Amino acid sequence: MASLGELARDRTALDADAIIHIQRLARVWGLLADLRAADLLLFAATTTPGQFVVLGHIRPVTATTTYPTDPIGRTYDRDQRNLVATAHDQGRVVEGTLDLPTTDERPAEVTAIPVRFGGQVIGVLSCEALPGSERPLSDLERTYRKVFDRLTSMIAEGSYPFARDEEEQYKAPRVGDGILLLDAELRLTYASPNAVSAIHRLGIHRPLIRRRLNDLDLDPEPLNRAVARREPATMEVERGVDNTVVMRCIPLLEGDTVTGVMVGLRDISELRRRDRLLMSKDATIREIHHRVKNNLQTISSLLRLQGRRLESVEARNALAESERRIASIALVHDTLANEGDAETDGDEVSFVKVVRPLVRLVEEGLTSPERPVDIRVSGDAGVLSSDVVMPLAVTLTEVLQNAVEHAFAADPSIDDGTVLVALGADDRQITLTVTDNGVGVPVGFNIDDQDGLGLAIVRTFIVSDLGGSIAIERSDGPPERAGTVVTIRVPQTRV
Ligand SMILES: Nc1ncnc2c1ncn2[C@@H]1O[C@H](COP(=O)(O)OP(=O)(O)OP(=O)(O)O)[C@@H](O)[C@H]1O
Ligand SMILES: [Mg+2]
Repeated sequence: MASLGELARDRTALDADAIIHIQRLARVWGLLADLRAADLLLFAATTTPGQFVVLGHIRPVTATTTYPTDPIGRTYDRDQRNLVATAHDQGRVVEGTLDLPTTDERPAEVTAIPVRFGGQVIGVLSCEALPGSERPLSDLERTYRKVFDRLTSMIAEGSYPFARDEEEQYKAPRVGDGILLLDAELRLTYASPNAVSAIHRLGIHRPLIRRRLNDLDLDPEPLNRAVARREPATMEVERGVDNTVVMRCIPLLEGDTVTGVMVGLRDISELRRRDRLLMSKDATIREIHHRVKNNLQTISSLLRLQGRRLESVEARNALAESERRIASIALVHDTLANEGDAETDGDEVSFVKVVRPLVRLVEEGLTSPERPVDIRVSGDAGVLSSDVVMPLAVTLTEVLQNAVEHAFAADPSIDDGTVLVALGADDRQITLTVTDNGVGVPVGFNIDDQDGLGLAIVRTFIVSDLGGSIAIERSDGPPERAGTVVTIRVPQTRV
């Protein structure tokens, strides 16, 4: 479906500024739909004379829609939409009725409001409600209607929507959240039941009606700003740690004069409480990773101390290898502890961010300065949970270590050793390929016949723990430099 902007550019002669104005209207019109309990349709004249196109539509949350199917993009002839045509031509608000297929008993009640911008009528807002019931309107409904009428005359004058509006949509109060209506002296003339509850939430229990809002021990800032600048002002008001209410003040204007203010109030205490909980859960997980890393480093240094006391070369090497394996695990914890970005939660990490430091670790520990091995990383395996990252990181260290030890060290004439680490992932699996240009595994190499510890660890992690597979193959270079390709596949754990 085309966006409002696209439709306006394709089907009407509106210029860029006019389109921005109606887009602004479409950002705030949920309020109008709810106040009037009506569907709102935004019409504009098409480039074909005598026709109007529906650029946008919104349903009320406070009433049943008159449009079960989406009307956006439909065109109407002028005589199908008399009220819209009149509001457009005469530049005034027009009220009347309209037969709609969904309201076959009695016609819908329609208010057609010219949308003015830069002195011109650029469109018409048609508010279409199911016929009202016979019963008289309640106080609440009457106030909603009053505010609606004032905002719509501002639309017709060109002062609403506001040119500047700092509103953050996600927490903007909707009508049902609670509204206060203030008169020109900023005295309260009406407070909806939910607004009263929100004010109680802030610890204010005095009678409200006829009081000036700023005498109520509320922060005067948003109200003062809204009145002084003649534009909406939004602020979060906090009482203690547990109570947060969003307060949004919309000045009601006649010409340049503020004749009242509508204040939307929304109790967001629960939202804020959950935010804080989530934040502290994340911070806790990171802190734990940090401590685990520190503990692993302690274990490493204990092994190093012990290694220095040993005579046997074999024993020393065994300890040195364990130290290296522990270092690669510590490195993953360190990365998890430092990953503060928004897309990952405390127990996830982008795998590449682990791979790069791991490669550095292997380079520092294993390649000799006279015969450096060039290790390169390409691709991306996405964000993975620590349950997967940990075994994959240890596996990669083993495989890299093997390449350095067996592919190149065995043949001193090799001085252009290169190892390519390629990462990849799709919906089903994560793929890790390590290719070297060394001597190659022997012809007929079978991973299950190996009794080294390195590949035994890899097998346990990849096959038994993660349910994946490993393939180690001689690639097809010249016989003495065939090279080795190690391919590791692990199923994605989450959907
Ligand atoms: N990239 C490679 N190039 C050549 N041979 C390899 C390569 N990777 C593995 N191999 C062969 O596979 C064998 C098994 O490797 P594995 O990691 O299990 O044991 P290891 O490296 O000998 O000992 P450890 O890893 O316990 O120190 C190696 O001894 C080597 O012969
Ligand atoms: Mg090994």
